Amino acid sequence: MGLMKSINIKTQNESYDVIIGRGVLSLTGELLSRHIKSRKAMLVCDDVTASLFSGTVTASLRASGFDVSTFIFPHGEANKTWSTAGSILEAASGANLTRGDFFIALGGGVCGDITGFAAAVYLRGVPFVQIPTTLLAAVDASVGGKTGVDLGTGKNLAGSFHQPKCVLFDPDVLKTLPGEQIAEGKAEMIKHGVLAGGRLYDIASRGTLLEDIEEVVALNVEIKRDYVMADPWDTGCRQLLNFGHTIGHAIEKCSSYTIPHGQAVAMGMVAETKAFIKFYNEKSNILEIIQSLLEKNSIKFDIPYTAEELAKAAIHDKKMKDGSLNIIAPLGIGNCQLKSIPISRLEEYIAAGV
Ligand SMILES: NC(=O)c1ccc[n+]([C@@H]2O[C@H](COP(=O)([O-])OP(=O)(O)OC[C@H]3O[C@@H](n4cnc5c(N)ncnc54)[C@H](O)[C@@H]3O)[C@@H](O)[C@H]2O)c1
Ligand SMILES: [Zn+2]
Repeated sequence: MGLMKSINIKTQNESYDVIIGRGVLSLTGELLSRHIKSRKAMLVCDDVTASLFSGTVTASLRASGFDVSTFIFPHGEANKTWSTAGSILEAASGANLTRGDFFIALGGGVCGDITGFAAAVYLRGVPFVQIPTTLLAAVDASVGGKTGVDLGTGKNLAGSFHQPKCVLFDPDVLKTLPGEQIAEGKAEMIKHGVLAGGRLYDIASRGTLLEDIEEVVALNVEIKRDYVMADPWDTGCRQLLNFGHTIGHAIEKCSSYTIPHGQAVAMGMVAETKAFIKFYNEKSNILEIIQSLLEKNSIKFDIPYTAEELAKAAIHDKKMKDGSLNIIAPLGIGNCQLKSIPISRLEEYIAAGV
């Protein structure tokens, strides 16, 4: 076990640590003993993460005296549903979890979102811990307290803010992660690099995001932390993290979720940048910069849908409020702003981007 990095994130009344280090998985019990009082937990994983990691995690928890039961759901975004969340709640109740007992999400963003949501509503809220096992979950989904499930009309349309007690990330989990899944995480890292500039942007522009995983994950967590702490309820600057997501979510939906989130976000970043430049008559080379950043990291960004298809799919986006929608204006690297457009111009905006 090498050195661990620890990043503290302050929330309204508390704070939590994101702990990053090789071998952390087998220290789960020890680390959680320091962050949580209760000794009873429900471990939630999908079938894949259950077979890969639940043995190590459960053994470590039991060695530290935790009473742990496991709930396994079938992997994939299609199962990030109300119905899966309901089954987790029934299982928790069946296992007699009481107030103060906690959930552990061991998996990717789907597992984290759904477990966090179950924890938010079980007994009107119990603690939970995130153990992200995908790059995307490590650099994005496990931080910030957004939890939820998808509805038939769109992604993440039901949910709650619920902060984890602690996040544990062991870079060794990535050894089994397929290449496409690595690309997913890279897309969100590039988004962070565009928003914040600085060292992460430099690393991304050299195409070396995977060289020092611990450092790069820590940089991403710090960038996300800064937005989340500045705007915990997502009413202002945190919305900058939605860069690529307005059109990205529409792309996911048009594809019936066969185009994965990160890929859709990469396409969305390019489309939203084009749209911004056309909409505001900007003279800027930011589009070329973002495209070459994606190319350098071998991420594709051509959109296989028409503006009409995308506009229709975008209409249920949560980011719309009082007849208007905040879009992200990438003025430059490390210099992005929110701008409001009327929903009546959404189709025109999307058309400018594709
Ligand atoms: N809450 C947030 O702030 C936030 C932010 C970004 C994304 N998200 C959500 O995250 C989800 C996407 O997350 P994801 O890409 O991690 O998807 P995922 O959880 O579905 O994981 C992707 C696939 O990888 C498998 N897997 C997980 N870890 C593995 C490992 N170490 N080795 C091999 N296979 C492994 C999973 O079983 C799954 O099949 C979306 O639902 C998105 O909405 C949430
Ligand atoms: Zn995202």
